[in-house]
Amino acid sequence: MPRLLVVHHTPSPALQAVLEAVREGVAMVDDVEATVRPALSAGAADLLAADGVLLGTPANIGYMSGALKHFFDTVYYPCLDATVGLPFGVYVHGNDDTAGALTSIAKVTGALRWKQVAAPLSLTGASGPADLEAVRELAATVAVSL
Ligand SMILES: Cc1cc2nc3c(=O)[nH]c(=O)nc-3n(C[C@H](O)[C@H](O)[C@H](O)COP(=O)(O)O)c2cc1C
Repeated sequence: MPRLLVVHHTPSPALQAVLEAVREGVAMVDDVEATVRPALSAGAADLLAADGVLLGTPANIGYMSGALKHFFDTVYYPCLDATVGLPFGVYVHGNDDTAGALTSIAKVTGALRWKQVAAPLSLTGASGPADLEAVRELAATVAVSL
C-alpha cells in the first residue's frame, strides 16, 4: 500500500487543528497509509520508506520553521539520489505572511528534485472551516497521486 509521510511542525492549537484535517484528508483516500512524524523526529529512514511526503510548518521569521529546516538538514544528502521525483505537497501557516517560508521550501525541494503534486497551501490567521477543508483537499490530492 502506498505510504504518505507527513512531516510537520505543530507548535500550537491552530496548527494541531490543521494536522487533524491532514489526517482526515488522507483518510478520505482508499489504500493509502499515512505515517505522521514531527519534523524534529523524522529522519532519512522515514523518508526512504515513503512514496510521497506532505510537509507542514508555521512561517517563522520569513522562513520555514527551524524544525522543518532541521529535517531537511538531516535528510538532504542521505536522500538526495534516492528521492528524485518524490511526490510532495506543502502547507504553511502564519499570522500574515507565508511567502518567505514557501520560497525556502521551494528552494530545497527543487534542489532535491521532488515533484510538487498539489498547489502549496498558505493559511494565515485563524483557520475557519474553509481553510480546514482546503487542508483536507491538499492531503487527499497528495495521497491520490501516490
Ligand atoms: C519566532 C516566530 C516567528 C514568526 N514569524 C512569522 C512570519 O514570518 N510570518 C508569519 O506570517 N507568521 C509568523 N509567526 C507566527 C507563526 O507562524 C504562528 O504563530 C504559527 O503559525 C501558529 O499559529 P498561531 O499562533 O495562530 O497558533 C512567527 C511566530 C514566531 C513564534
